[in-house]
Amino acid sequence: MLIRTGRDGFQHPHSSEITPRAVYEDRRQILKWMATGAAGAALATWAQREALAQQVQRPGKLAQLAAVRSTVSGAVTMEKVTEYKDATTYNNFYEFGTDKSDPAQNAHTLKTRPWTVEVEGLVKKPAKYAIEDLLKLGAQEERIYRLRCVEGWSMVVPWVGYSLSRLIEKVEPLGNAKYVEFLTLADKATMPFVGSRVLDWPYAEALRMDEAMNPLTLLTFGMYGEVLPNQNGAPVRLVVPWKYGFKSAKSIVKIRFTEQMPKTAWNKAAANEYGFYSNVNPNVDHPRWSQATERRIGEDGLFAKKRKTLMFNGYEAQVGQMYAGMDLKKDY
Ligand code: MTE
Repeated sequence: MLIRTGRDGFQHPHSSEITPRAVYEDRRQILKWMATGAAGAALATWAQREALAQQVQRPGKLAQLAAVRSTVSGAVTMEKVTEYKDATTYNNFYEFGTDKSDPAQNAHTLKTRPWTVEVEGLVKKPAKYAIEDLLKLGAQEERIYRLRCVEGWSMVVPWVGYSLSRLIEKVEPLGNAKYVEFLTLADKATMPFVGSRVLDWPYAEALRMDEAMNPLTLLTFGMYGEVLPNQNGAPVRLVVPWKYGFKSAKSIVKIRFTEQMPKTAWNKAAANEYGFYSNVNPNVDHPRWSQATERRIGEDGLFAKKRKTLMFNGYEAQVGQMYAGMDLKKDY
């Protein structure tokens, strides 16, 4: 993603983005770098994260989360699941830093209890849920989803949670509620990068009501059969598998129903790069990154061929209808 430099609106990718992307560029490119010495730095960053991944043990202290395999259409891909060590050390969670390994290193300071999620705005039954009650509101299901980041990488993760629609039905939205906004924790005391100018905090995301109600939209409490580790958005996050990863807000504290389209964090930072919809679409490139292909974290090695990105990240049968008649180049 982007870091703002602040000077005449010019923006450029942080070294942490350049590095992993560059590492996977074609071999000739890498050899060229080697000649210039730039590859040394790139590989050092890569090696650093690999070393961190090797150290990651499944923390026995994370509670198991009993769940049944989901029967929702499209909710379980048969693709190879990303290893836990990779899904938990290669993260975007800017509240804890901008390098991919920062969340795994820094997010231990996040306090996930007590935790409440406030539901407000255009609903008949606004409520403040303690996380313990929210956990029990629906039957926990395991969903094996592809998650595709706008930066060009993807993972396959067994998430645990229930359809967000379960909560939405409970609070009874009013007729004029057209959007659902998600606000996440912004606590300077425990999140070292809150206060930095990277984003306008708190991290905010939103969905149109039909997207929020789509059965694939998962209110997520766990992964790999355990509660979420902090770096993946504990204690509760969203996973919206047909959209770029940044729509899947982590560590949610507020869910608000609105009539107007809410402003979202990345859209505010760079509207021409991050649209409201942000559906995975191999035919619409990000201004600086092609979206036609992707690399699978932990699986595709240094010189592996990238895999083709699928329309709506492979969930077209389940979600395509919601966008019928829309110009997806305009509404990116
Ligand atoms: N949520 C918050 N609160 N802060 C963030 O920086 N990053 C987003 C999203 N949710 C982010 C966030 C981005 S860019 C991605 S790709 C996914 O989280 C990454 O999720 P993962 O680290 O579990 O793979």
